[in-house]
Amino acid sequence: MKIQKVAVLGCGLMGSGIAQVAAMAGFETTVLEVEQKFLDKGFAGIEKSLGKFAERPVEKGGITAAQKDSIRARLKGTTSKADLADCDIILEAIIENVEEKKKMYALIDGIVKKKAIFATNTSSISVTELLTAVKRPERFIGMHFFNPVPLMKLVEVVRTIATAPDVYDAAYEFGKKLGKVPVRTSDKTGFIVNRLLVPYLLDAIRAYEEGVGSIEDIDNAMKLGCGYPMGPFTLLDFVGLETTYYITQVMYDEFKERRFASPPLLKRLVMAGWYGRKTGKGFYDYANPEKPVAGKF
Ligand SMILES: NC(=O)c1ccc[n+]([C@@H]2O[C@H](COP(=O)([O-])OP(=O)(O)OC[C@H]3O[C@@H](n4cnc5c(N)ncnc54)[C@H](O)[C@@H]3O)[C@@H](O)[C@H]2O)c1
Repeated sequence: MKIQKVAVLGCGLMGSGIAQVAAMAGFETTVLEVEQKFLDKGFAGIEKSLGKFAERPVEKGGITAAQKDSIRARLKGTTSKADLADCDIILEAIIENVEEKKKMYALIDGIVKKKAIFATNTSSISVTELLTAVKRPERFIGMHFFNPVPLMKLVEVVRTIATAPDVYDAAYEFGKKLGKVPVRTSDKTGFIVNRLLVPYLLDAIRAYEEGVGSIEDIDNAMKLGCGYPMGPFTLLDFVGLETTYYITQVMYDEFKERRFASPPLLKRLVMAGWYGRKTGKGFYDYANPEKPVAGKF
């Protein structure tokens, strides 16, 4: 099963990163969007990122001007599904909405070649639910990348009860060809990373609610005591509290365990519209982004 041509669905935050990485790895890559303006936005982001790679020395993971040109030449944007007909793998990164994703899969199922592999980048929707939209469920997997895709080395490769072993192996090898470190996992909500990370983040909020420490002290404790690059509250504000809240709901629904349930404070912050960095306020106040001030709730 040879993967030569790549299709990426969606040119948002994740889709643009995935397309960039595929083109950097030498694959002819076509990105599908609903409107040209979203392609323009995504491609502007890719251009900026490639610019940063071009500033770095090649021995430190940088690229030459000539490499930058050939990466650009391998990338094509389209708003026509017919342009995906000859692709070997379809990496889907459209909005996190079950109905939108299923509608999209049903449409392209009739267009792409028989042997194509479908890979969803969903963070929280069951891969098994999505595969019901195509007539070849054995060719359906999850490939869960991390933001920012060009810099984060991990991809979780997700098998379902219907996935054919050769399809899974091909996707795993493809992950390596993209320069990532693939890990094997199965279709349980949260996969590996969120399964372990989400309860930790929620526990940090509970510890704060119970008076174990201040927001700043808990952040410093986990940073300096565990060597984590950032504390749990800084990370929560970075990811977006509404995103974490949504994930807790999906994970609680799947496992019915308290460790996945949202603490009351997280829900209150989300109800107030304090989503973290993106709204200027969350567990910290970013009125001065250089010096965020920890909240006292
Ligand atoms: N943001 C993250 O950190 C992250 C991490 C891992 C996985 N994911 C997953 O990746 C997917 C995309 O997330 P994102 O953060 O890039 O979202 P985003 O909103 O930045 O991008 C989604 C893009 O999909 C496009 N789109 C919507 N419907 C479409 C359609 N029918 N056809 C083609 N394009 C369509 C939108 O125009 C938009 O540009 C989601 O499934 C999300 O769960 C996100």
